[in-house]
Amino acid sequence: MERLQKAMANAGVASRRKSEDLIVDGHVKVNGELVTELGTKVSKTDVIEVDGVPIYKEEPKYIMLYKPKNVISAVSDPTDRQVVVDFIHGVEERIYPIGRLDFDTTGLILLTNDGDFANLLTHPRYNIDKVYIATVNGIVDTKALTKLEQGVMIDGKKTSKARAKVISTNKDKKTSVVQLTIHEGWNHQVKNMFEAVGHEVYRLKRERFSFLDLGTLQPGEWRDLTAFEVDKLKKIALDD
Ligand code: URA
Repeated sequence: MERLQKAMANAGVASRRKSEDLIVDGHVKVNGELVTELGTKVSKTDVIEVDGVPIYKEEPKYIMLYKPKNVISAVSDPTDRQVVVDFIHGVEERIYPIGRLDFDTTGLILLTNDGDFANLLTHPRYNIDKVYIATVNGIVDTKALTKLEQGVMIDGKKTSKARAKVISTNKDKKTSVVQLTIHEGWNHQVKNMFEAVGHEVYRLKRERFSFLDLGTLQPGEWRDLTAFEVDKLKKIALDD
Protein backbone atom coordinates (compact mmCIF):
# COMPACT_ATOMS: atom_id res chain seq x y z
CA MET A 1 0.00 0.00 0.00
CA GLU A 2 1.18 3.52 -0.69
CA ARG A 3 -0.26 6.97 -0.33
CA LEU A 4 -2.53 8.03 -3.16
CA GLN A 5 -0.47 11.14 -3.96
CA LYS A 6 2.70 9.00 -4.14
CA ALA A 7 1.05 6.55 -6.54
CA MET A 8 -0.02 9.51 -8.68
CA ALA A 9 3.46 11.03 -8.65
CA ASN A 10 5.02 7.65 -9.52
CA ALA A 11 2.66 7.36 -12.46
CA GLY A 12 3.92 10.72 -13.70
CA VAL A 13 0.62 12.57 -13.14
CA ALA A 14 2.23 15.49 -11.26
CA SER A 15 4.59 16.11 -8.34
CA ARG A 16 3.45 14.76 -4.97
CA ARG A 17 2.55 18.27 -3.88
CA LYS A 18 0.45 18.99 -6.99
CA SER A 19 -1.15 15.55 -6.75
CA GLU A 20 -2.30 16.48 -3.25
CA ASP A 21 -3.99 19.57 -4.69
CA LEU A 22 -5.68 17.44 -7.37
CA ILE A 23 -7.04 15.12 -4.65
CA VAL A 24 -8.30 17.91 -2.39
CA ASP A 25 -9.83 19.73 -5.36
CA GLY A 26 -11.92 16.66 -6.26
CA HIS A 27 -10.22 15.46 -9.45
CA VAL A 28 -9.38 11.95 -8.25
CA LYS A 29 -11.40 8.75 -7.96
CA VAL A 30 -10.30 5.43 -6.51
CA ASN A 31 -12.30 2.42 -7.70
CA GLY A 32 -14.98 4.80 -8.94
CA GLU A 33 -15.31 6.67 -5.63
CA LEU A 34 -14.35 10.33 -5.37
CA VAL A 35 -11.52 10.79 -2.84
CA THR A 36 -10.73 14.19 -1.40
CA GLU A 37 -8.82 13.16 1.72
CA LEU A 38 -5.05 13.01 1.80
CA GLY A 39 -4.62 10.02 4.10
CA THR A 40 -5.94 7.53 1.51
CA LYS A 41 -3.75 4.54 0.73
CA VAL A 42 -3.95 2.49 -2.42
CA SER A 43 -2.60 -0.85 -3.59
CA LYS A 44 -1.50 -2.01 -7.02
CA THR A 45 -4.95 -3.42 -7.81
CA ASP A 46 -6.86 -0.18 -7.09
CA VAL A 47 -8.03 1.72 -10.14
CA ILE A 48 -7.11 5.39 -9.88
CA GLU A 49 -8.63 7.97 -12.22
CA VAL A 50 -7.71 11.62 -12.58
CA ASP A 51 -10.46 13.62 -14.28
CA GLY A 52 -11.87 10.33 -15.51
CA VAL A 53 -8.57 9.14 -17.02
CA PRO A 54 -7.15 5.96 -15.48
CA ILE A 55 -3.50 6.18 -14.49
CA TYR A 56 -1.04 3.36 -14.63
CA LYS A 57 2.23 2.91 -12.86
CA GLU A 58 5.20 3.24 -15.13
CA GLU A 59 7.75 0.47 -15.17
CA PRO A 60 10.82 1.72 -13.33
CA LYS A 61 13.60 2.72 -15.72
CA TYR A 62 17.28 3.14 -14.90
CA ILE A 63 19.61 4.56 -17.52
CA MET A 64 23.25 5.57 -17.77
CA LEU A 65 24.11 8.34 -20.26
CA TYR A 66 27.48 9.63 -21.37
CA LYS A 67 26.57 13.31 -21.19
CA PRO A 68 28.29 15.34 -23.89
CA LYS A 69 29.57 18.88 -23.32
CA ASN A 70 27.13 21.80 -23.55
CA VAL A 71 24.03 19.89 -22.49
CA ILE A 72 21.78 20.77 -19.55
CA SER A 73 21.11 18.17 -16.85
CA ALA A 74 17.34 18.65 -16.95
CA VAL A 75 14.23 17.44 -18.76
CA SER A 76 13.57 20.76 -20.48
CA ASP A 77 15.17 24.14 -20.93
CA PRO A 78 13.31 27.45 -21.27
CA THR A 79 15.87 28.65 -23.83
CA ASP A 80 15.75 25.43 -25.88
CA ARG A 81 19.27 24.29 -25.23
CA GLN A 82 19.89 20.55 -25.47
CA VAL A 83 18.97 18.59 -22.35
CA VAL A 84 20.05 15.13 -21.25
CA VAL A 85 16.70 13.45 -22.04
CA ASP A 86 17.01 14.56 -25.69
CA PHE A 87 19.53 11.75 -26.10
CA ILE A 88 17.28 8.99 -24.77
CA HIS A 89 15.26 7.80 -27.74
CA GLY A 90 12.61 5.12 -27.60
CA VAL A 91 11.85 5.48 -23.89
CA GLU A 92 8.25 6.39 -23.06
CA GLU A 93 8.71 6.68 -19.30
CA ARG A 94 9.15 10.12 -17.75
CA ILE A 95 12.75 9.89 -16.77
CA TYR A 96 14.85 12.66 -15.29
CA PRO A 97 18.50 13.02 -14.30
CA ILE A 98 19.69 11.97 -10.86
CA GLY A 99 21.66 14.97 -9.66
CA ARG A 100 23.40 17.29 -12.05
CA LEU A 101 26.50 17.75 -14.11
CA ASP A 102 27.35 21.30 -15.19
CA PHE A 103 26.57 22.42 -18.75
CA ASP A 104 30.24 22.10 -19.71
CA THR A 105 30.95 18.89 -17.74
CA THR A 106 30.92 15.59 -19.61
CA GLY A 107 30.54 12.04 -18.36
CA LEU A 108 28.40 9.59 -16.50
CA ILE A 109 24.94 10.66 -15.45
CA LEU A 110 22.08 8.41 -14.36
CA LEU A 111 18.44 8.94 -15.26
CA THR A 112 15.36 7.31 -13.77
CA ASN A 113 11.62 7.65 -13.18
CA ASP A 114 12.01 6.06 -9.73
CA GLY A 115 11.86 8.87 -7.18
CA ASP A 116 12.92 6.70 -4.24
CA PHE A 117 15.99 5.54 -6.13
CA ALA A 118 16.89 9.12 -7.11
CA ASN A 119 16.51 10.26 -3.49
CA LEU A 120 18.61 7.40 -2.25
CA LEU A 121 21.50 8.29 -4.54
CA THR A 122 21.39 12.05 -3.99
CA HIS A 123 20.61 12.25 -0.30
CA PRO A 124 23.61 13.70 1.56
CA ARG A 125 23.31 10.96 4.17
CA TYR A 126 24.30 8.27 1.67
CA ASN A 127 27.89 8.48 0.56
CA ILE A 128 28.48 7.36 -2.97
CA ASP A 129 31.91 7.76 -4.58
CA LYS A 130 32.00 9.97 -7.65
CA VAL A 131 35.21 10.01 -9.62
CA TYR A 132 36.11 13.02 -11.75
CA ILE A 133 38.97 13.74 -14.12
CA ALA A 134 39.80 17.44 -14.10
CA THR A 135 42.18 19.28 -16.39
CA VAL A 136 43.30 22.33 -14.44
CA ASN A 137 45.67 25.22 -14.87
CA GLY A 138 49.09 25.03 -13.25
CA ILE A 139 51.07 22.15 -11.85
CA VAL A 140 49.20 20.58 -8.92
CA ASP A 141 51.65 19.82 -6.11
CA THR A 142 51.39 17.41 -3.19
CA LYS A 143 50.40 20.23 -0.85
CA ALA A 144 47.32 20.96 -2.95
CA LEU A 145 46.53 17.24 -3.25
CA THR A 146 46.68 16.84 0.53
CA LYS A 147 44.36 19.79 1.03
CA LEU A 148 41.89 18.38 -1.49
CA GLU A 149 42.02 15.03 0.28
CA GLN A 150 41.59 16.39 3.78
CA GLY A 151 38.77 18.77 2.91
CA VAL A 152 38.54 22.39 1.83
CA MET A 153 36.07 25.06 2.88
CA ILE A 154 33.35 25.95 0.37
CA ASP A 155 30.80 28.55 1.43
CA GLY A 156 31.54 27.86 5.10
CA LYS A 157 31.23 24.05 4.77
CA LYS A 158 34.12 21.63 4.72
CA THR A 159 34.18 18.93 2.07
CA SER A 160 34.56 15.41 3.43
CA LYS A 161 37.66 13.28 2.93
CA ALA A 162 38.44 12.81 -0.75
CA ARG A 163 41.07 11.07 -2.84
CA ALA A 164 43.21 13.02 -5.29
CA LYS A 165 46.00 11.95 -7.58
CA VAL A 166 47.83 13.56 -10.45
CA ILE A 167 47.43 11.56 -13.67
CA SER A 168 49.71 13.74 -15.81
CA THR A 169 51.18 17.19 -16.09
CA ASN A 170 52.09 19.31 -19.09
CA LYS A 171 54.95 21.64 -18.24
CA ASP A 172 54.72 23.54 -21.57
CA LYS A 173 51.00 24.24 -21.31
CA LYS A 174 51.23 24.48 -17.51
CA THR A 175 48.28 22.19 -16.92
CA SER A 176 47.62 19.11 -14.80
CA VAL A 177 45.17 16.26 -15.13
CA VAL A 178 43.93 15.17 -11.73
CA GLN A 179 41.63 12.36 -10.66
CA LEU A 180 39.45 13.44 -7.75
CA THR A 181 37.05 11.14 -5.89
CA ILE A 182 34.42 12.87 -3.79
CA HIS A 183 31.34 11.77 -1.86
CA GLU A 184 29.02 14.76 -1.79
CA GLY A 185 27.32 16.23 -4.83
CA TRP A 186 27.31 19.94 -4.13
CA ASN A 187 26.83 22.37 -6.98
CA HIS A 188 30.10 22.99 -8.84
CA GLN A 189 31.87 21.09 -6.09
CA VAL A 190 34.91 19.92 -8.03
CA LYS A 191 35.47 23.33 -9.64
CA ASN A 192 35.10 25.02 -6.26
CA MET A 193 37.46 22.56 -4.57
CA PHE A 194 40.18 23.25 -7.13
CA GLU A 195 39.56 26.97 -6.87
CA ALA A 196 40.04 26.68 -3.11
CA VAL A 197 43.55 25.33 -3.72
CA GLY A 198 44.40 27.85 -6.43
CA HIS A 199 43.65 25.96 -9.67
CA GLU A 200 41.05 26.70 -12.29
CA VAL A 201 39.26 23.76 -13.91
CA TYR A 202 39.45 23.90 -17.72
CA ARG A 203 37.79 20.59 -18.43
CA LEU A 204 35.80 18.19 -16.28
CA LYS A 205 34.54 14.66 -16.83
CA ARG A 206 32.80 12.29 -14.42
CA GLU A 207 34.18 8.90 -15.23
CA ARG A 208 32.67 6.86 -12.43
CA PHE A 209 29.59 6.82 -10.24
CA SER A 210 30.13 4.30 -7.45
CA PHE A 211 31.16 1.06 -9.22
CA LEU A 212 29.68 2.16 -12.57
CA ASP A 213 31.91 3.41 -15.36
CA LEU A 214 31.18 4.45 -18.92
CA GLY A 215 32.66 1.32 -20.47
CA THR A 216 32.54 1.63 -24.24
CA LEU A 217 29.84 4.33 -24.32
CA GLN A 218 30.65 7.38 -26.43
CA PRO A 219 29.38 10.93 -25.72
CA GLY A 220 25.61 10.99 -26.31
CA GLU A 221 25.23 7.21 -26.00
CA TRP A 222 23.29 5.47 -23.24
CA ARG A 223 22.28 2.09 -21.94
CA ASP A 224 19.86 0.60 -19.42
CA LEU A 225 21.35 -0.39 -16.09
CA THR A 226 21.01 -4.09 -15.37
CA ALA A 227 18.80 -5.24 -12.50
CA PHE A 228 21.97 -6.34 -10.75
CA GLU A 229 23.51 -2.86 -11.06
CA VAL A 230 20.35 -1.22 -9.70
CA ASP A 231 20.21 -3.57 -6.71
CA LYS A 232 23.91 -3.09 -6.03
CA LEU A 233 23.58 0.72 -6.06
CA LYS A 234 20.68 0.51 -3.60
CA LYS A 235 22.67 -1.80 -1.37
CA ILE A 236 25.75 0.45 -1.43
CA ALA A 237 23.71 3.53 -0.55
CA LEU A 238 21.83 1.81 2.25
CA ASP A 239 24.80 -0.04 3.74
CA ASP A 240 26.78 3.13 4.11
N1 URA B 1 31.61 19.35 -9.80
C1 URA B 1 31.59 20.40 -10.63
O1 URA B 1 32.22 21.40 -10.38
N2 URA B 1 30.85 20.31 -11.75
C2 URA B 1 30.16 19.21 -12.09
O2 URA B 1 29.52 19.18 -13.14
C3 URA B 1 30.20 18.12 -11.21
C4 URA B 1 30.93 18.21 -10.06
